Amino acid sequence: MMMKTNGGQSVGILGTGSYVPEKVLTNQDLEKMVDTNDEWIVSRTGIKERRIAADDQAASDLAYEAALKALDASGVAAEDLDLIIVATVTEDMSFPSTSNLLQDRLGAKKAAAFDLSAACSGFLYGLTTGTQFIQNGMYRYVLVVGVEVLSRIVNWEDRNTCVLFGDGAGAAILGPVEDGYGFLSFELGSDGSGGDLLKQAAGGSRRPIDEKVLEDKSHCIYMNGREVFKFAVRVMGNASENVLEKAGLTKEDVDFLVPHQANIRIIDSAVNRLGLSYDKVVVNVNKYGNMSSASIPVALDEAVRDGRIQDGDILVLVGFGAGLTWGAGAMKWSTKEKK
Ligand code: UT7
Repeated sequence: MMMKTNGGQSVGILGTGSYVPEKVLTNQDLEKMVDTNDEWIVSRTGIKERRIAADDQAASDLAYEAALKALDASGVAAEDLDLIIVATVTEDMSFPSTSNLLQDRLGAKKAAAFDLSAACSGFLYGLTTGTQFIQNGMYRYVLVVGVEVLSRIVNWEDRNTCVLFGDGAGAAILGPVEDGYGFLSFELGSDGSGGDLLKQAAGGSRRPIDEKVLEDKSHCIYMNGREVFKFAVRVMGNASENVLEKAGLTKEDVDFLVPHQANIRIIDSAVNRLGLSYDKVVVNVNKYGNMSSASIPVALDEAVRDGRIQDGDILVLVGFGAGLTWGAGAMKWSTKEKK
């Protein structure tokens, strides 16, 4: 599905926030847990360390910290939020939704709330969804959070996956901005035929948790890394080019690419495809690994807070993940609310 966001109120990001847990798990730590080494992990993925949630931290706790910072940055009060969308595959529990828990914690009394499941593309699915409500005039302020506590569903004995993932949360407050600013185009995609390539097979209605599940660890992340890699390289470039074209922009217009942080080699492929210099790419996979739906909003928040991203900059956000899914958005950055 591809769309250009014209014909309604322009929608932008009024403020961002992020949170990562304190505990750092380094490649050297992993060397003691599975048959791996720092050289392999860095050369194949670019990851040096990742964050792990404390035992008493669940998705809503991480989401809360990120949301508070985003609200503060935007100047929007929690009570004024109209909708909360939480993109996650590691919700606190199946129900109530993590967005319901977050709404209560924030005191966002008038907000509607729902979770969205699109794995690593979740934040882009969330931004696209949230934008529609503001564009058509139904709502004014939407909080979109990408949060994951992947450490809870990683098989810590599987070196193919356990070196890749980390925990964290990123948030954005969507609201009305001046015409010509904010989101210019979106693309969302799905190829369910690739569902088996990356999945948490057990724990749902197909295969409830039983002793066999716990034994074969099918409640943990399974991934066919090579196939996901090929898919990722293809869609990251395609989706980025598509949203630029839809927005009437060219590769030369891009000030910053904010890609999903799964693997530095996948990011490199998108960078090469767009012909960007490296100072135009936001990268933090080295520090946090793959935080799934949290990767893009955490990277975005860091680049906004350190002053790299400025008003008027053209951004491309792009991600891919389980489903298989992908999503991209082109935007002209401005956090200035249209009153
Ligand atoms: O958010 C979306 C989620 N997923 C992704 O984006 C992941 C996409 N895929 C990838 O990033 C890469 O495929 C990986 C980083 C997962 C793997 O890199 P690769 O270059 O595709 O390696 P490979 O799977 O082809 O494995 C190469 C070798 C294998 O050994 P053999 O069969 O050649 O003897 C693996 O067993 O590397 C071995 N290997 C490891 N060795 C040391 C796999 N994991 C490790 C490890 N340490 N942690």
